[in-house]
Amino acid sequence: MSTASAPGKIILFGEHAVVYGQPALAAPVTQVQATATVFPSPKERGGRVADGGEAEGEIWIDARDLGRTYSLAQAEPHDPLALAVRLTLDRCGLSAASHAFTIRVSSTIPPASGLGSGAAVCTAIVRALVAHFRSPISNLEVASIVFETEKLLHGTPSGIDNTVIACEQPVYFIKGRPPQPFTVGRPFTLLIADTGLPSPTKITVGDVRAGFEREPERFSRLFAEIGRIVNRAREIIANEDPARLGPLMAHNHRLLQDIGVSSPELDALAEAATDAGALGAKLSGGGRGGNLIALVAPQTAARVGAALREAGAVRLISTLIGHSSSVISHD
Ligand code: PMV
Repeated sequence: MSTASAPGKIILFGEHAVVYGQPALAAPVTQVQATATVFPSPKERGGRVADGGEAEGEIWIDARDLGRTYSLAQAEPHDPLALAVRLTLDRCGLSAASHAFTIRVSSTIPPASGLGSGAAVCTAIVRALVAHFRSPISNLEVASIVFETEKLLHGTPSGIDNTVIACEQPVYFIKGRPPQPFTVGRPFTLLIADTGLPSPTKITVGDVRAGFEREPERFSRLFAEIGRIVNRAREIIANEDPARLGPLMAHNHRLLQDIGVSSPELDALAEAATDAGALGAKLSGGGRGGNLIALVAPQTAARVGAALREAGAVRLISTLIGHSSSVISHD
């Protein structure tokens, strides 16, 4: 039996614009996790099916949180979990027909809420399988397998979710380039407030695409302005007082409103947080529903948390950005 977990994530700055080549900053959120466990079938002896197996019917995906258990052979063609299993077996040089196991997945990450639930579940699947088959893999290889599953979920993903979740550390990300870890000079606290409204990223990303096609110049200007905010935020996070991020968060949120991905619920949470003393607040992820992030000083955290609940937040997570640092391995 092999088990692996993967964290959720938040985008600090730069969502949506990142799909169009602008930079973005994201960080893992370890308070929520997806977990995958491989249970070998009694038919499997010494890592292989003794009787030759019955093709992919011997491999089962048990996604009990989603209320579904199905065999790999029966999986829908666009099932991201099945794709994660198939691509990982390919990567390990293994044939699905020669193996028999059940992979059980569970997750505490709310789906369609901007916390990277899909990428985390698929990352946990890849990691549990490579552990089961004792096949070492780099973080960036995990990220590239999960990127294929993200395409099924998101249409045209930038690659930021799979990268930050597979690397499990804060990243400065530009689509198509190797991710860079970012330095956090002084750790800072964010409250993550869930509107409780699921909002599939594929829809908001598709709507932004339609807006961009209708008004390419206006949207390009908005994306470029978001890119400038991201670069300024990166400097502040590295070298300055993190309180200075507050106005940048408010600015990024306004630009996301202009792009059309905020909602009355997210705007109400942002206003409640700032009225209660948050230094800044913005939506995080695909938008419309999902989560808002608010920057808080230790002395105002409790008050802001209470105001967010009062304004409709169904769940709050407090996360410290920059409490650990490591290096992204590119091998
Ligand atoms: O998965 P979400 O909702 O955090 O959205 C990912 C961020 C987007 O920029 C909206 C899409 C992408 O692929 O980068």
